[in-house]
Amino acid sequence: MVEDMCLFYKEILVMKPPKRSPMLLRAAVVMFSMVCGVFIFSACLKQISTQARTTFVDFKVIDNHSRGRLNLMNTPHLLHYPKPVSFSRYWEVSVNLYQLPLIRCSLIATLFARNECDHNPVLFFAILSNQRSGSGWFETLLNSHINVSSNGEIFSVRERRKNVSSILQTLDKVYNLDWFNSASKNECSAATGLKWMLNQGLMEHHKEIAEYFNRRRVSVIFLFRRNLLRRMVSMLANSYDRYAKLLNGTHKAHVHSAEEADILSKYKPIINSTSLLDDLKDMEMRSAKALEYFNRTRQMIVYYEDLMRNHTKLIDVQEFLGLPQMELTSRHVKIHRGPLSDHIQNWDDVNKTLKGTVYESFLEADY
Ligand SMILES: *[C@@H]1O[C@H](CO)[C@@H](O)[C@H](O)[C@H]1NC(C)=O
Ligand SMILES: *[C@@H]1O[C@H](CO)[C@@H](O)[C@H](O)[C@H]1NC(C)=O
Ligand SMILES: *[C@@H]1O[C@H](CO)[C@@H](O)[C@H](O)[C@H]1NC(C)=O
Ligand SMILES: *[C@@H]1O[C@H](CO)[C@@H](O)[C@H](O)[C@H]1NC(C)=O
Ligand SMILES: *[C@@H]1O[C@H](CO)[C@@H](O)[C@H](O)[C@H]1NC(C)=O
Ligand SMILES: *[C@@H]1O[C@H](CO)[C@@H](O)[C@H](O)[C@H]1NC(C)=O
Ligand SMILES: *[C@@H]1O[C@H](CO)[C@@H](O)[C@H](O)[C@H]1NC(C)=O
Ligand SMILES: *[C@@H]1O[C@H](CO)[C@@H](O)[C@H](O)[C@H]1NC(C)=O
Repeated sequence: MVEDMCLFYKEILVMKPPKRSPMLLRAAVVMFSMVCGVFIFSACLKQISTQARTTFVDFKVIDNHSRGRLNLMNTPHLLHYPKPVSFSRYWEVSVNLYQLPLIRCSLIATLFARNECDHNPVLFFAILSNQRSGSGWFETLLNSHINVSSNGEIFSVRERRKNVSSILQTLDKVYNLDWFNSASKNECSAATGLKWMLNQGLMEHHKEIAEYFNRRRVSVIFLFRRNLLRRMVSMLANSYDRYAKLLNGTHKAHVHSAEEADILSKYKPIINSTSLLDDLKDMEMRSAKALEYFNRTRQMIVYYEDLMRNHTKLIDVQEFLGLPQMELTSRHVKIHRGPLSDHIQNWDDVNKTLKGTVYESFLEADY
């Protein structure tokens, strides 16, 4: 009923939008609504308490049948109710302030700015990964869920990770649902986050970031690839294509067809067998270090190989994020398929180097 009332007034308001400079007006209205929000809030607290209680009960009933949601009910501290400034309803507030009887309605509009999903809680997450570990594929899978907004590799832009304060500011924007890109479904997000590579400021500033994750209760999904030799092939091929641009003169890090995958995988890198063992060790250490840095954060480790082999792993991920279960899909196509010996120029060297070491299994593994 209250919702209807709001819509009704909204329509009236839309018919006569204010004509002054939008920038000035916006700023004024934001200030105004902030001041009035607090003011009205204290005045009307008693009035809305019944309203608030009923929406909360509704939410429990709606999500009752979902396993993931139920689990999260037992950990309410992980759930958030963000109030994004980017889609608050300025118009209603600005006009309603002159019409006292409408105050109740305007209050609801300013307090809950996520429209029909106002009372759905949001879980915050971050996918921490390394380049060429399937994180692009994993993220598109997640984003195929109607309630997930994973905002991509936001920190690939150097400016945003210049110092700790710019990192934390960017994170605030993401978790307040004020970050927009093609993957954002901000209003009805039940889980929102980003993809973050370990070499994008994450290791340098791990202390402050871990502290932030714990303070804002961000859940971490580590996405690692077990077969580091395959990862190495993918890195070398990708960095070669940056210059060679094999696909009609454009560089692509991910492809959507088998034909494109075949073209890209024609290039066979040479792996430096002298430094190979050390390089593998370094890659391993890096991931171990990341696990240690964020060991107090709520977390889940996902291996690329397990995802490839078994899509049921995605059910665990959805549960971890407290999402209603859905079939997830992605158009990404794997680039380097088949035995590794087909993809490395100096295969015999590499084979000899790894034989009898802890990394020997990398030679045979499927993914
Ligand atoms: C909600 O779940 C409980 C068990 O957790 C069940 O007993 C109850 O029938 C469910 N209610 C609805 C409306 O699905
Ligand atoms: C961080 O970088 C921004 C520019 O991106 C700058 O304005 C700010 O002063 C820097 N903060 C610190 C603490 O260095
Ligand atoms: C998921 O999104 C749909 C459609 O946008 C929305 O109706 C639903 O309430 C959302 N569910 C959750 C748990 O946020
Ligand atoms: C390259 O361009 C040709 C013709 O312009 C087109 O037929 C082909 O599909 C393109 N290939 C890729 C991989 O984009
Ligand atoms: C291979 O690695 C060794 C040791 O790091 C280095 O000295 C050598 O220059 C590398 N070879 C090539 C071709 O990069
Ligand atoms: C996290 O790692 C630190 C070392 O950096 C260690 O002292 C601490 O016990 C670990 N905590 C947990 C919960 O494993
Ligand atoms: C797939 O994973 C689930 C748990 O995530 C496990 O129970 C099941 O046995 C796995 N299936 C296969 C074929 O590995
Ligand atoms: C590696 O080399 C050994 C001989 O040293 C050979 O028997 C084996 O088949 C090779 N492995 C692969 C995967 O080619």
